[in-house]
Amino acid sequence: MSEAIRKNFASDNIAPACPEVMDAMIRANSGPAPAYGGDEQSTTLEARFAELFEHDLRCFPIATGTAANSLALAALVPPYGAVLCDQSAHIANDEGGAPEFFTHGAKLITIPSDDGRMLPDALQTTIELNREGGIQSTPARALSLTQATEWGTVYSLARLRELTAIARQNNLPVHMDGARLANAVAHLDCSLADITWKLGIDVLSFGGTKNGAIAAEAVLFFNTALAEDFIRRIKRGGHLWSKQRYLSAQLLPLLHDNLWLKHARQANAMAQRLAHGLRRQPGAKLPFEVQGNEVFVVLPEPLVTQLEAAGYVFYRWPTPAGVDGTLIRLVTHYATEQTDVDALLASL
Ligand SMILES: Cc1ncc(COP(=O)(O)O)c(C=O)c1O
Repeated sequence: MSEAIRKNFASDNIAPACPEVMDAMIRANSGPAPAYGGDEQSTTLEARFAELFEHDLRCFPIATGTAANSLALAALVPPYGAVLCDQSAHIANDEGGAPEFFTHGAKLITIPSDDGRMLPDALQTTIELNREGGIQSTPARALSLTQATEWGTVYSLARLRELTAIARQNNLPVHMDGARLANAVAHLDCSLADITWKLGIDVLSFGGTKNGAIAAEAVLFFNTALAEDFIRRIKRGGHLWSKQRYLSAQLLPLLHDNLWLKHARQANAMAQRLAHGLRRQPGAKLPFEVQGNEVFVVLPEPLVTQLEAAGYVFYRWPTPAGVDGTLIRLVTHYATEQTDVDALLASL
């Protein structure tokens, strides 16, 4: 990997696609294949996901996380309903209104939390405040949870169980934004089944792009009744690839021999190493637990400038009021190596 990649901690999607994915693309690139998902790779992909999740499911490969989330939500909520999500959720802050667009105007109601993980009491209260009311109301009709969260924290299975139980008691279907689900599974050391359908997740956006693919996510319906007509939404939204084999071919190698998990473990281990080193740095404060592959750290401004001057690339984050220093985000990925982390720490 080049020095430019080694010094780039801006995101997990700055990384190139992994060799296994590139090889699979070359292999997929021969001979004819039926269009619009009728190809062998797409059929095999659905079967592989069903095996991995130990559950019958419908699988729809989608090129972007934004479209995967937005289309999935459109299958759950009517235009006059509301989706409840954490205030840090990508769907609420970073998707340019796509969830509202694809749902034909459903409202996103954000629930405050300290670290990206919704609290059961707050969910219950928000549901109470957004019950089916008169014609003027925008009733809560779905819950969306992000795992791992935007702050790099991971919901415990117990917390997820509490949240999904509340959703079930209130007839809300549950979506999970799993752009970084692999990192959450690596952290919790649980099975994919444990963290999804066994907890009552109805539909999942399973991330591939941040974990070694070129551009591929999968919308997985464990509640297959909800997938009826989903293909029409994909087509109508302009996200149905006629040459879908190239989408599915990216995900298959990640599922093979649990490469998705190996990649996530590497990314998480590098985030741990980074966090460990930063904690020893005078003046550094880590505001959130580091559980996935994202490290948020408050550093004295001169140190941040020093890192930038040394060629490091990362995002500066809005620093909370009253906090002394500059909040930055450092993200590791499957190709981050120990020497990259150690070199960054040595530049401080
Ligand atoms: C939690 C989460 N969900 C969804 C996405 C959307 O992915 P994309 O940029 O492919 O639309 C991202 C990307 O940063 C993300 O962090």
